Order: sequence, then structure tokens, then C-alpha cells
Amino acid sequence: MAIDLQQVSKIDVQPGELPQSMAAWVIREERQGEPKDAFQVEEIEVPEPGAFEVIVRVMAAGVNYNNVWAALGKPVSVMKYGDHPEFGHHIGGSDASGYVWKVGPGVTRWKPGDEVVVHCNQASYEDPEVHGLDPMAAPSQRIWGYETTWGSFAQFTKVQAQQLLPKPKALSWEEAASYGLVYFTAYRMLITRCNLQAGQRVLIWGAAGGLGVFATQLCAAAGAHCVGVVSSPEKGELVERLGAVGFIDRGEFAGMMRKGGESPAEEKARFLASREFSKRVSEMLGDAPDIVFEHVGQATFPTSVYTVKPFGKVVICAGTTGFNLDFDVRYLWMKQKEIVGSHFANAYECMKANELIESGQIKPVLWRTMGFDGVAQAHQLMLENKHLGKISILVGADSEGQGRTAEGGGAIHAEVGG
Ligand SMILES: NC(=O)c1ccc[n+]([C@@H]2O[C@H](COP(=O)([O-])OP(=O)(O)OC[C@H]3O[C@@H](n4cnc5c(N)ncnc54)[C@H](OP(=O)(O)O)[C@@H]3O)[C@@H](O)[C@H]2O)c1
Repeated sequence: MAIDLQQVSKIDVQPGELPQSMAAWVIREERQGEPKDAFQVEEIEVPEPGAFEVIVRVMAAGVNYNNVWAALGKPVSVMKYGDHPEFGHHIGGSDASGYVWKVGPGVTRWKPGDEVVVHCNQASYEDPEVHGLDPMAAPSQRIWGYETTWGSFAQFTKVQAQQLLPKPKALSWEEAASYGLVYFTAYRMLITRCNLQAGQRVLIWGAAGGLGVFATQLCAAAGAHCVGVVSSPEKGELVERLGAVGFIDRGEFAGMMRKGGESPAEEKARFLASREFSKRVSEMLGDAPDIVFEHVGQATFPTSVYTVKPFGKVVICAGTTGFNLDFDVRYLWMKQKEIVGSHFANAYECMKANELIESGQIKPVLWRTMGFDGVAQAHQLMLENKHLGKISILVGADSEGQGRTAEGGGAIHAEVGG
């Protein structure tokens, strides 16, 4: 049956009932490749919720880089992980806003009709780490809509009940779907892993990007001082608007970037550029940063280790420019600096972070909203680096601006970001 993409906002079942099938954007192993080819709309049977599971009707979905990797099948094919072997398809999407539609056995906290946003961490309740350490440490830990199928690029999604959070009332569906994955990651990096304190100084790479806009706002909300690194004055303006004391255009210090395989003479020149950059950071912040917020990886890591102050922390959650980091370790041990790894967030951190959105202290930053027909295109834009910030996809909502049930500031709609 051909699926009319203009009709996905219409369903003919009431909360508590599921239709037989739904429209979903699906990646299959045999067509992995560029998102424009890998993503195709298919009619898929709607799953029933298992114990402690919930089926959510997706009103809007958020786009993240993880499903560019899922499309490409690189660096690994997701089809080997989580519940993929059982179902043989990948329905991506790790951010969503919507309605609780049907709850599985054991769910008491949520009922059909509740308005929710979804955090993307899953783990088995049978793993001891979930109960005494941190779900992020559990062997069963998976990112929903990346390492699992039944993500948010479909009319209905299947999640664990612990993934649900109340939807902030002043946000539209597309605003509410835009922030979870990157914001909750930035929250754990700064608040939990670095114990961010008022008065501390922070350097943020990619400060106008998905993670960066939230790292910047968290610093401002905590009374910390941050400088953001960006690649254009327009992005710098956004970062200042979000509360940074200032920005540095990385184009001015292009020589500091590690490319890999530098000769001794090239490395010396690179180091001198790093040193100039560090001086600029200290001048702007009044001292060297206590924390450097890292996700760029290979290109910037030597500069991060050098720039952070003695006993300071470089906190890192990604290596976008390369995973093999090499740096002069003398600057680490002689000055007793720390490197701190971080990955997404646990349910409690997501809840606390979401409260700051509800109270308007932290705001989503949204670049563009597309219709359900835009899922492949949105990921293709990301692959080609033509996106400029967070993209949301309308699924159950048939136009922008729906879903607000209270007065409030809403999101920042920015022309820059990514
Ligand atoms: N582990 C986790 O839980 C987790 C969670 C979220 C994201 N991530 C990962 O974190 C990375 C960033 O995610 P995002 O959503 O923030 O992406 P994004 O929106 O594309 O932002 C990344 C920013 O990094 C900057 N950047 C890119 N190349 C750079 C370079 N060579 N040198 C310095 N800066 C550079 C860019 O800013 P300028 O061009 O303005 O400098 C860009 O805005 C991705 O690899 C993503 O997969 C990991």
C-alpha cells in the first residue's frame, strides 16, 4: 500500500488502542549508504508494549547525527545490536515529543493521553548497575533509536517507561522534540562529571552547535563564565546571546589544529598557535579555564589539554574530527590535569535537566522544522554539513506551533547553530 506522507498526522484510533500498521522511515542493511538512499518510508506493523514499556504517538521527532551513522552503516552497522536482529529493520530517531498512547504491564506512572518528551537511554531493569551504580554502566545500556529500532521517525514509537519526561508546557511539539539528546549529554558532562560551580571558567568548543548551545546556557545558569569557540561572527553573536562572556573565531587560530602526522617543525608551529589561542582564552576569562568542553577530538584535543588550568578537567563525549587523540602528556601529568569521559545521561539527570527547560532557565535552540517527508533530506543535510543547528520533524503535528498549553518563552529560533 502506498503511504501518503501528507496524511501521517491523521490516525483513526483513540488513546489506548493501536492501529495494525504505521508509516515509518526505515533503514535496512541492504541499502545502507547515504541517507537520501538508505532511509525509505515503509508500512510497518505497530508493536505492542511489553512489560514496563510504553507506545508513544510521535507528534514531532528530533534529528541527530547518530542516524547519519546508522544510514551509512559506519563505523559499524547498527543492525547487529540491540533488538535489530529480532526485527531486521532500523527505525531511527532518538528524540521525540508526543502522547502516551498505550502502556504495557507494570506501568503505573503514565497513562494514555499524557504529554511527554522522551530521553534516549535504555537499560534492562535486571542489570544491578541500574539500581546501584548508573544505568550508563549497565551491560544492556543502549541508545534508543540508534542502537535499537522503534525510534521516533514513525507514527508510533516503543520506549521504556523510565524514558518518559513531562513535556514542557510552553513549548510546541517541534520545540519539545529538539533538545533531549544533546542537552542531557551537555548536562551530565558539566554538572555531574565536572561538578560545575559558580565562578568557574569554561572553554566550549563548537559553542553554537547542538551540544554547545546547551553547555553555554548551563554555564550562564550556574553562574560560571564561558568563552565559546565558533567559526563565524554570526555564530559568535548567538553564543553571546546565550550567556557567554565572549567568543573566539577558530579561523583566527587555524594553525593550532592537529591534522595527524605532523613533522617536528610542523608540530612546533602548531604548538605556538595553540599557545596564542590559550593566551587569548585566559585574557577573555581572566584566568585559564577550570573546564574544557570537548567533542571535536583529534583536531583540538592537544590544545584543550594545554589550555585547561592546573588540576582542571577536559570533559569529552565525542571525536568528530578523529578518535585517535595524541597530545603531549607532560602538560597533563606535570599540571595534574584530568581527562573525563562522558556519554549521554541517566534518567535522573534527564529529569533534573528537563525541569530547567520547564522553568524557562534553559531554552531549546531550533534552526528548522520539516514535514515527515523531510527525514532523509534532513540527514543528508547533516552528512553534507549543510545544516546549521537542530532540525525537528513534524509527525503527528500537522503544522508548527501546535502543542503549547501554557504561556512562556518557547525556543530560540536561530539562523545559526550547527
Ligand atoms: N556521547 C554522547 O552522548 C554524544 C551526545 C551528543 C553528541 N555527540 C557527538 O558530539 C559531536 C557534536 O555533536 P553536536 O550535536 O554538537 O554537533 P553539531 O551541531 O554539528 O556541532 C558541532 C560543532 O563542532 C564544531 N566543529 C566542527 N568541526 C570542528 C573542528 N575541526 N574544529 C573545531 N570545531 C569544530 C562546529 O562549530 P564551529 O564550526 O562553529 O566551530 C559545530 O558547530 C558529534 O560527533 C556527536 O555525534 C555525542
